Amino acid sequence: MLVSATEMLKKAKDGHYAVGAFNINDLEWTKAILTAAQECNSPVILGVSEGAGKYMGGYKVVSNMVKGMIEDQNITVPVALHLDHGSYDGCLKCIRAGFTSVMFDGSKITIEENIEKTKILVNAAHINGLSLEAEVGSIGGEEDGVIGRGECADPEQCKMIADLGIDFLAAGIGNIHGKYPANWTGLQFDVLADVQKATGDMPLVLHGGTGIPEDQIKKAITLGVAKINVNTECQLVFAAATRKYIEEGKDLEGKGFDPRKLLAPGQNAIREMVKEKMQLFGSVGKA
Ligand code: 13P
Repeated sequence: MLVSATEMLKKAKDGHYAVGAFNINDLEWTKAILTAAQECNSPVILGVSEGAGKYMGGYKVVSNMVKGMIEDQNITVPVALHLDHGSYDGCLKCIRAGFTSVMFDGSKITIEENIEKTKILVNAAHINGLSLEAEVGSIGGEEDGVIGRGECADPEQCKMIADLGIDFLAAGIGNIHGKYPANWTGLQFDVLADVQKATGDMPLVLHGGTGIPEDQIKKAITLGVAKINVNTECQLVFAAATRKYIEEGKDLEGKGFDPRKLLAPGQNAIREMVKEKMQLFGSVGKA
């Protein structure tokens, strides 16, 4: 069932668990993540970066693929198709292409411009039935060429953005996209608590879900995080399983070079990893 992310995140917030947002890059990943969600009876968010949208052939390709997959694979759990770290134009394109949720990443512009553009996009998203995620304070690391400084969000700025009627908020709390460096100091829970205090019961989003220790994930959920993004870990487990298949020479046995066989181990690895995350985030059985 393709839905906006608003209701599922309100429910997650009330129920003290988080919904996983996993990035997709192709049909194999999409099928793996949707199958995992169905097996766990868990709501799920499919994240699509602008780069991944382009790679897959465009937003309409993505939207139609996901709709078809949900129907043909009998996926009955709530699924949101979400633009991850969208530009202003990217958000408008996804609204038109049939996505059910968009993130406007205003972390690299001034707070004034962020407010102005978020206001327009909230309206455009809501009249078309989509949810909107906004961002305050950039998230460290690099994602699809977008480099964040890893700063922490200012709770006052978070309140200004939250008051525009957005549905959920990504606030930098020392989280980083990609692998965490050895000298990483961990999530800044005092900032998270201050952001939540300033924004009332706004569902908060934790980006950079790969490599955060489990106890920190659990603590973040108790402090108001209702959506956790995972991308790099999907890439890592997919690559490792594919490498193992090739290193074992399986691609050279019989019809092992058939892409349906070659890509199966990676697909299974993503499915199992997503199921583990759903356990950790507490969303199993919450569909
Ligand atoms: P990771 O790549 O660190 O898992 O972060 C994913 C993310 O935040 C997508 O927006």
